[in-house]
Amino acid sequence: MSLKLTSSEVKKHNNRKSLWIVIKNDVYDVTSYLSEHPGGEDPLLDAAGQDATRAFEDVGHSDDARSILKKYKIGSLIPGESCGSKLKWALLALAAAVIIGVAYKKYAS
Ligand code: HEM
Repeated sequence: MSLKLTSSEVKKHNNRKSLWIVIKNDVYDVTSYLSEHPGGEDPLLDAAGQDATRAFEDVGHSDDARSILKKYKIGSLIPGESCGSKLKWALLALAAAVIIGVAYKKYAS
């Protein structure tokens, strides 16, 4: 199963009833792993609904931990919002250019 998820969708799953975390652009549903995590529940609850790449790497998790992780993958993050905002800025810049162009023509004539 590989869903395409936005970070705002992931953000909703931020509690022990439904706990998703992002590591390197992949989304993991670790709700059922919460009670099994050797590092305890707290680090996972802290990272719930968020990107935990740094936290995960900083601990120096073993290869074992990485293969456990794979089992919980549910999908990957689409850079929906940042892409959308880039497009928004591009359109804004274009609109500004058109307005400036029209104004310039008006004043120049
Ligand atoms: C959700 C995916 C995760 C999985 C599958 C996972 C798995 C594991 C495993 C198997 C261990 C035992 C040691 C090892 O094999 O490396 C461990 C320890 C630990 N994990 Fe995670 N972990 C996850 C996420 C996190 C996150 C996001 C943090 C945030 C800081 C974290 C913090 C820790 C800590 C503090 C330990 C204890 C290290 C120690 O006692 O030496 N883990 N984890």
